Amino acid sequence: MNRILVTGGLGYIGSHTCVALIEAGYHPVVIDNLRNTRISVKQAIEEITGKPLEFYQLDAKDSAAVSSSIENIDGVIHFAALKSVGESIEKPMEYYTENLESLLSIIQVANEKKAKSFIFSSSATVYGDTEESCVTEETPLGKPLNPYGHTKILGEKILQSGKQKFKTIVLRYFNPVGAHESAKIGELPNGIPNNLVPYITQTAAGKREKLTVFGNNYATKDGTCIRDFIHVVDLAEAHVAALNYSEEMIETVDVFNVGTGKGNTVLELIETFEKVNKLKLNYSIGDRRPGDIEAIYTATSKIESTLGWKAKKELPTSMKDSWEWEKSLWK
Ligand code: UFG
Repeated sequence: MNRILVTGGLGYIGSHTCVALIEAGYHPVVIDNLRNTRISVKQAIEEITGKPLEFYQLDAKDSAAVSSSIENIDGVIHFAALKSVGESIEKPMEYYTENLESLLSIIQVANEKKAKSFIFSSSATVYGDTEESCVTEETPLGKPLNPYGHTKILGEKILQSGKQKFKTIVLRYFNPVGAHESAKIGELPNGIPNNLVPYITQTAAGKREKLTVFGNNYATKDGTCIRDFIHVVDLAEAHVAALNYSEEMIETVDVFNVGTGKGNTVLELIETFEKVNKLKLNYSIGDRRPGDIEAIYTATSKIESTLGWKAKKELPTSMKDSWEWEKSLWK
């Protein structure tokens, strides 16, 4: 169990996972079409790890090209997908095509190349507007609120329904934040960021004038939404733990939520960012954003007891690393 095909391996979570894989002794075989990242990330991964990265600029939807370019693999981690909720509402067909065609194509590659494990990037978004704030893997899937979320539910169903030759682990990510401590890799949002933390760092850097906090009249302690913000390096390490576990698992498919187990409000995150980085953020309270879930964070007992994985980094570290990464982009 050594050669792991990583699709979307130069993206935000993908790049941190490549580092974690190499550090754990795996050999990532990376494909990325560079639609939402830059080729410079390859060199950054090589600088961090001190090892050359096997990389192919390929689209995950093109199974023939992927198959003919790579040698046999032992496992797959499939990140490659479109991920903007707002964009998915504007262009639903593009989201269904990209996210589902790429998954079907990579399943085919995994079977052809005799992969034994398949790790799929899913999202907490599959729980929809759940009534429970603290969700477990048993929490029923909610109504998908947008085409992006729907592609994740469908992706899970596809992997659960097919009689594959490999073991499948579905990882449902909560809100990834932070960056590698070297500040060589991090999130590279395209245009105006949709997500909270890149919007915060770009505002602090003067690239955006002001952050709008979307609503402060929710039924939470300070009125702003609650999320489970997980450091991307911890999230990356969960993939290594999943791969290790896939070698011994008995079930054909298993699902894990990946988060810290702790919910923080949007204002708590902003205050932490200001405190650790000793700066003041220009923000004001605005209207609620349509479709936002009031509060969601995960129970961690299943992933802790089964994969032996637990998030280690706290919110202040995440906020410091996010800011260091933003500053590194000025150079
Ligand atoms: N927020 C603001 N201002 C902003 C941006 C965000 O107040 O400029 C707030 C949102 O209203 C929300 C919180 O910050 O309350 C987090 O918002 P994000 O957009 O960063 O993250 P979401 O939780 O809405 O969505 C994220 C991913 C989705 C994924 C989902 C899973 O973007 O892809 O988590 O729960 F599906």
